[in-house]
Amino acid sequence: MLEYINRKNSDCYKWDSECAEECLPLWIADMDFKAAAPIREAMQRRLDHGVFGYSIVPQANYDAVASWFSRRHGWKGINRNNLLYTTAVVPAISAIFAALETNMDQYRAVYGKTDRIGAPLRILTFTPAYNAFFNCIENMGCEIVPSPLVLVNNRFEINWSEVEAKAKQADVFLLCNPHNPTGRVWSRDELERLAAIMRREHLYVISDEIHCEFAFPGHAYTPFASIVINDTDFCVCTSASKAFNIAGLLCANIFVPNKELFAQINHALEVHEVNGLNPFGLVAQVAAYNESEAWLDELNEYVYGNFCYLRDFLAKELPMLQLHVTEGTYLGWVNISALNMSAETFCQRLAKEAHVLFNPSEMYGAENYIRINLATSREVLAEALNKTAEWVNNQ
Ligand SMILES: Cc1ncc(COP(=O)(O)O)c(C=O)c1O
Repeated sequence: MLEYINRKNSDCYKWDSECAEECLPLWIADMDFKAAAPIREAMQRRLDHGVFGYSIVPQANYDAVASWFSRRHGWKGINRNNLLYTTAVVPAISAIFAALETNMDQYRAVYGKTDRIGAPLRILTFTPAYNAFFNCIENMGCEIVPSPLVLVNNRFEINWSEVEAKAKQADVFLLCNPHNPTGRVWSRDELERLAAIMRREHLYVISDEIHCEFAFPGHAYTPFASIVINDTDFCVCTSASKAFNIAGLLCANIFVPNKELFAQINHALEVHEVNGLNPFGLVAQVAAYNESEAWLDELNEYVYGNFCYLRDFLAKELPMLQLHVTEGTYLGWVNISALNMSAETFCQRLAKEAHVLFNPSEMYGAENYIRINLATSREVLAEALNKTAEWVNNQ
């Protein structure tokens, strides 16, 4: 059963770091629901063992990931020879950049990209983008090649001519599937077309699929690995963290089908010291994938209900704000340009004067949007939206 928990005063990043006591934080992508009972029970058993030293990753973890993706998403073939373990997706992406950098000049020489030999790794990604993508790219000394998504019939779409042109300038394509922050769940057709472009232009694809468990009715997540593709061309980052609300336990995976790259990325994880897992993350992952599917279904239903609530509330109470077609994730992406203030100003003032926290789109490389975290109770969402409407209507 899904249970909302008041997380105030629990050293919670979402509730305790940025705002006053009375603040309603609908910002960072973290949920306010208690983890599923099988996860808590597995952790309790591990706790009762009483020793929390260094861990290895047991076969049960590989089996749990393989079985989950096969039965829930039709993605077959995951095993311990193609699955790497790491603490979290963001450090994994940095380590993958480092691994790719080592070979890139050799790769560029083979594919006639000789003008770029010696240059930093160039990363093509859609914008707006998950903010940590920008950090990883910058911190690893890489260069971003942004490809802005475009609004077509109220939905964010890929600008295909732009992607084709930008792919010629880049080495790596960093995909977010489904997409944070716009909530697009890329279709099989879109992914096949993207894969074809990246293959033709010899880009390596890193697909971040951490939001894969959140697709609204009528939409389905397509694993990038299920698109027919050469095994040298891509890797996929996943984690049970986002969907099962266990991000603090630090346990994530990278699917790397190519043997040579598997070894190189493994080495980069070791060099970055992000390959040591903790015993609680490991048991939580197994319990999530093996025993918590019904909980996840209930969560998805609730989150979709929250999305509908947001959509109906905006239409009735704040019709000048525009919610675009959203197909998944637990994030609302709302256009506030009618308010004639930057999203940053809006969010700062709302936090200070109405005690409601949203994320401004500037941090995702876009203007005029706010991102609303829907993974909370309907009551908290309703209260936050009421306070927002009252504040907007008093301007
Ligand atoms: C697309 C995406 N990737 C990665 C992360 C963070 O993953 P981790 O905590 O495993 O680094 C997030 C968190 O919001 C995200 O939205």
